Amino acid sequence: MEDFSLPQDSFFLGFDSSTQSLKATVLDSNLNIVTSELVHFDSDLPHYKTKDGVYRDPSVNGRIVSPTLMWVEALDLILQKFLKSKLDFSKIAAVSGSGQQHGSVYWKNGSAAVLFSLDPKKPLVDQFGSAFSINESPIWMDSSTALQCREIEKAVGGALELSKLTGSRAHERYTGPQIKKIFETQKDVYENTERISLVSSFMASLLIGAYACIDETDGAGMNLMDIKQRAWSKIALEATAPDLEKKLGKIAPAHAVAGHIAPYFVERYHFNKNCLVVQWSGDNPNSLAGLTLSTPGDLAISLGTSDTVFGITDDPQPRLEGHVFPNPVDTKGYMVMLVYKNASLTREDVRNRCAEKSWEVFDKFLDQTPPLNGGKMGFYYTEHEILPPLPVGFHRYILENFTGETLDGLKEVEVKEFEPPSEVRALIEGQLLSMRAHAERFGMPSPPKRIIATGGASANKSILTCISSIFGCDVYTVQRTDSASLGAALRAAHGYLCSKKGSFVSISSIYKDKLEKTSLHCKLSVTAGDQNLVSKYAVMLKKRMEIEKRLVEKLGRI
Ligand code: ADP
Ligand code: XUL
Repeated sequence: MEDFSLPQDSFFLGFDSSTQSLKATVLDSNLNIVTSELVHFDSDLPHYKTKDGVYRDPSVNGRIVSPTLMWVEALDLILQKFLKSKLDFSKIAAVSGSGQQHGSVYWKNGSAAVLFSLDPKKPLVDQFGSAFSINESPIWMDSSTALQCREIEKAVGGALELSKLTGSRAHERYTGPQIKKIFETQKDVYENTERISLVSSFMASLLIGAYACIDETDGAGMNLMDIKQRAWSKIALEATAPDLEKKLGKIAPAHAVAGHIAPYFVERYHFNKNCLVVQWSGDNPNSLAGLTLSTPGDLAISLGTSDTVFGITDDPQPRLEGHVFPNPVDTKGYMVMLVYKNASLTREDVRNRCAEKSWEVFDKFLDQTPPLNGGKMGFYYTEHEILPPLPVGFHRYILENFTGETLDGLKEVEVKEFEPPSEVRALIEGQLLSMRAHAERFGMPSPPKRIIATGGASANKSILTCISSIFGCDVYTVQRTDSASLGAALRAAHGYLCSKKGSFVSISSIYKDKLEKTSLHCKLSVTAGDQNLVSKYAVMLKKRMEIEKRLVEKLGRI
């Protein structure tokens, strides 16, 4: 029997460079959490003047970016926080991380030399001030590239063809359309760029002091990679911009080692010089790893700055809706995912307008209103939505005399507002019904065997209860809501083992039969309720999809 144990007394560090914060979790060799830290961009780094970690450009419709240097400064700051809390950096055997997906960084010609010769006496932020050809990174919330999306789809033979090739049709937030827009509108900037990184490979580059590869999983969020070959697609590259392959570098499997930690971190924080940096990946793929999602019937729902629904499959069927990515911990399998832009920030908007800015009041309203909300349904978009592609706006309807038995003879009436408790329920039921409907349409398991909930809002028991009523299954959660940094720490351990063995080893060989003794253990949080109610929600869902179709026909962006 081969020994797959991690070295006793070693630590594994996982980051999560997300929209609103940089988080980090340290696991020990028994996969228990040792410590964690967080840098909240708006409050810990106020001089960047971000709101929710981003800038919304009032002059260009849909342009949403983040200052690249803020992510650099956050890395030093979180490591300083660990120094203060006396983390023994020398025990860290491997590091990995998660990046918000799709966001991109543009390295100016000559910046490889800056990365290579970091001075440990100076903070990173003082050394990267002129390293970027664009100082504001486009991120996943951006929706300013509709034109480029259509051009790319046309060049490869249509939206469905592009989806079959790259795992998704063209999406405004995807990196390929973002690069195309930069090439078309700022040619000199494009030419002055020697390397384009994703947020994930960017942060890995800082840690190794050299350009890190893009990993196969996060690389699938660009509309540039052939998902079957796990290699850049020539036709997609050509449809995007000239000389692009050179600027993107190579693609590496997620379990590969990107390099050793740079001397900067050895001298400044006392990392061991043999500490490995394992390829970073996207936040959703790393969440899939952190939730140990390995059964095709299980679904994960992540309720963060974005909401996502994801699961695994061996036989993906790319469509016009949804996304297919390689599974970051399985060299042959895939993950399938739906993404919503109107998520936590939209819930905060309703909480602030209707529930005295308090989650407690929000939860009280959710608990005191009846399931099905007396036929009140809502569509709430504070940002341009991805699924369905609808612009900012609120749409509220009442299905009078709705009992959930039938839609026969019932007509919906559009209204301007609901009283606060109904508004809260209409928002949550609407978000979850949309997930159920689109997940079914995408061929995800229905009902799922179980749902594992994660992300900031998964701390909310009233929301978890609604998930179980609408999907009709048990809902599980993990000890901590940040599965992306937890998954990154687990992937650091996985990459470490693969490197020691000299070949890929199954991720489950790390936790074997002791999963319930680790911090990765998923616990039952809400038991599946009344199946009769699940059927009534199916009736409501049908009406919701009818209205959604009409709204898309009238207002849709694509
Ligand atoms: P990110 O995508 O940036 O990683 P997180 O997963 O950390 O985001 O989620 C942050 C969000 O969690 C906040 O914007 C907040 O709205 C939400 N949140 C935190 N606590 C609660 C709660 N009790 N109920 C609902 N939402 C919550
Ligand atoms: C995924 C997506 C978001 C970001 C959020 O396609 O756009 O979930 O990864 O960080």
